Amino acid sequence: MKTSEIRSAFLDYFRGKGHTIVPSSSLVPSNDPTLMFTNSGMVQFKNVFLGSEKPGYVRAADVQRCLRAGGKHNDLDQVGYTARHHTFFEMLGNWSFGDYFKREAIAYAWELLTEVFKLPADKLWVTVYHTDDEAFDLWNKEIGIPAERIVRIGDNKGGPFASDNFWQMADTGPCGPSTEIFYDHGPEIAGGPPGSPDEDGDRYIEIWNLVFMQFDRAPDGTLSPLPAPCVDTGMGLERLAAILQHVHSNYEIDLFAELIRVAGALTATADLGNKSLRVIADHIRACAFLIVDGVLPLNEGRGYVLRRIIRRALRHGWMLGVRGDFFWKMVAPLVGQMGEAYPELTARQAFIEEVLRNEEQRFGETLEHGMRVFDEVAGRSGETIAGEDAFRLYDTYGFPADLTADIARERGLEVDMAGFERAMNEQRERARAAGRFEAKGQMPAELASQLKPTLFLGYEALHSEGSQVLGIVRGGNQVGQLADGEEGLLILDRTPFYAESGGQVGDTGELLTATGRFEINDTLKMGGVFFGHAGRWHGPQPLRSGDRVEARVDALRRQAIVLNHSATHLLHAALRKVLGEHVTQKGSLVAPERLRFDFSHFKPMSSDELARVEAMVNAEVRRNMPAEVRSMAYDDAIEFGAMALFGEKYGDEVRVLRMGEFSTELCGGTHVDRTGDIGLFKLVSEAGVASGVRRIEAVTGSGALAHVIDEERRLGELSQLLSSSGDDAVEKLRQLFERQKKLERELDSLRSKAAGSATADLAGSAIDVDGIKVVAARLEGLDAKSLRDSVDQLKQQLGDCVILLAGAVDGRVSLIAGVHGKALGRVKAGDVVAHVAAQIDGKGGGRADMAQGGGNDVAGLPAILAKLPDWVSGR
Ligand code: ALA
Repeated sequence: MKTSEIRSAFLDYFRGKGHTIVPSSSLVPSNDPTLMFTNSGMVQFKNVFLGSEKPGYVRAADVQRCLRAGGKHNDLDQVGYTARHHTFFEMLGNWSFGDYFKREAIAYAWELLTEVFKLPADKLWVTVYHTDDEAFDLWNKEIGIPAERIVRIGDNKGGPFASDNFWQMADTGPCGPSTEIFYDHGPEIAGGPPGSPDEDGDRYIEIWNLVFMQFDRAPDGTLSPLPAPCVDTGMGLERLAAILQHVHSNYEIDLFAELIRVAGALTATADLGNKSLRVIADHIRACAFLIVDGVLPLNEGRGYVLRRIIRRALRHGWMLGVRGDFFWKMVAPLVGQMGEAYPELTARQAFIEEVLRNEEQRFGETLEHGMRVFDEVAGRSGETIAGEDAFRLYDTYGFPADLTADIARERGLEVDMAGFERAMNEQRERARAAGRFEAKGQMPAELASQLKPTLFLGYEALHSEGSQVLGIVRGGNQVGQLADGEEGLLILDRTPFYAESGGQVGDTGELLTATGRFEINDTLKMGGVFFGHAGRWHGPQPLRSGDRVEARVDALRRQAIVLNHSATHLLHAALRKVLGEHVTQKGSLVAPERLRFDFSHFKPMSSDELARVEAMVNAEVRRNMPAEVRSMAYDDAIEFGAMALFGEKYGDEVRVLRMGEFSTELCGGTHVDRTGDIGLFKLVSEAGVASGVRRIEAVTGSGALAHVIDEERRLGELSQLLSSSGDDAVEKLRQLFERQKKLERELDSLRSKAAGSATADLAGSAIDVDGIKVVAARLEGLDAKSLRDSVDQLKQQLGDCVILLAGAVDGRVSLIAGVHGKALGRVKAGDVVAHVAAQIDGKGGGRADMAQGGGNDVAGLPAILAKLPDWVSGR
């Protein structure tokens, strides 16, 4: 059975059991601040387990792309060393949200494995959490697995509930006991059954984990029950495929066989069993999908995990003898294998290749050098490579610490990781700061469980009457009322207020009752489906839960937002047309004043490209096409050609916004009726925000007009200064610059002439002191350079001489001294300057033959200069 057939057989089975099939979410979790990557199928359902989000179904199944590299579940170090570990893998999962529990979960899994996939029952083993007698009995009595193939697993990871059979996604959040199903690959492979000392071998392989989600783990480790017990299962697609394709290693399944074949060809490696080929084949999947999901190689946060995986792959290529770039060439065969299941991979092939090639070229330059340094360090290191050496490899040669450790391991060495950490501390702080996300609008779970999702009226209406206050949240807790002047979050049954999402800011406005007014300064989503109206109550009597209110959105502000939002879609489409299909949205902010759009692109846009984008958007505005919104199933929307953002999470029913033939995008935001409403679109700025990400800011409607008027005013002021009519302002300014340059040149030549004649006069005024000519004079209007030229000329004319020239500009005196010929035996230029400067509240110094300085006392200068010959004579 091919991998693709296994995916569909799995989904078909659960569809037949009343499960809703949901799409894979992004590798970058959209709903979870505690998690770096989607490490299992349940991640997108976390809030559903916790009870703060309601999806509209109680059974679901999917094929989820997962990454276990960085974060709580990290298999990066195992890849290449075992037959079954991956960084990126696909997880087949089914869920019950308060619907079925242990009995059905176990029965479904068994039926699917033994009847659909036809695995021989006697090759299957199971484990249960040591205290879970219920699961034990279900397997033993209902399914009929003999007790000797059911293993109880206790807390084997150093703490209560820390067990292979107690699953948790992260250090906090939903968790519970689990039962795991293992497949016995046969006695010819080394390894013991689960729970035995040699369980880590490759003979008994875990294929499916059924978790009975019952608890929410708090940061202090306490477990509290979830609102309803749930089921979360995860089966490794690659492991199942290995069994069904009668191979032992995941790396021999259809999908990997092809990747390994290509990797072998690209690296000229004949032995397709080579471990480095497996690493490369594994890593190309992780890297390509991370890039698809918007991660780019960077030095911190998620981007750094990507960078580490890429560099690890490149190092393995290097070990195989590759000295040019090769890794990016794996993208095309990957698309061949997985593009059908993941169209977004196909769509972004060129972009992924570009990102990888870039990174490859960057690292290629230092890899070879770094390897030499590594060899040298390893040669003098004994058994452990010092933390500072690992840090140097990191800092200078871009070797991530785990890469260094990986190379070290091959040579039987270790790396002093603690020492490395110390040296890295500073960088780590930065990375941590980048990984911190704000969790906003927490919905109290008990309130969420009582309420229906808020009905949004605001696509059509900005005003409504008779909405009811269903809940009031203050300081994270539910309260019964708000007194005059108190702030809180109100949840209504229905509302015209748009809650911030998809980049569009929340609405502001007011809620009115017969006695008072709730002033709303923001609206945000809480628990995914409830709209929280944030604001302050003004009224002699308290606002109470249950009260009816009249809702009024600030209509002018909303209108401005709407124009910017629709324009953002046109901008996105125009960028793709002008720059290419690799342009995808990396972030957006739609506010009343302006729109901001971040997108992937590798270099600054040229002024010509900017002009074309702006013109294209404005042409669509003038075409005045209707903006049509349709609700449809997610799959239909994608078929319909809608652009979806892969970092975003979409429900079953999605809204598709289409403006003419120009733009079709999934969007829950609010939009214009016709593109002409936008009026005018003006780009304001274009700049880089991160490597490979550009940012455009723009304005629309009356904001655009205001922008143009403002520019016009500035141009008017300029024209006035130039006494121009406006049309010829540029020409006039050019002429002015030219004239200025000409004048500067004239001034220079006049100055040097003046210096020449001043010098001639000065030479005549020199006083003889023991055969040394002494000149001390003040020259008006000469800058430091002219003074220095004069000193040089005087030296030529006078031969053995001491010269001090002073210039005064704006009350500051500058001094230059020169000493030449025999005079050097008597006095140094630095001394001359120091002597004079000391008397005019200044300082200075320099070489023996030339020195300079300055001071403040212009008035004292003549007397001091007059005495210089005496001073020289006294030396
Ligand atoms: N969440 C469980 C796992 O990933 C199913 O193993």
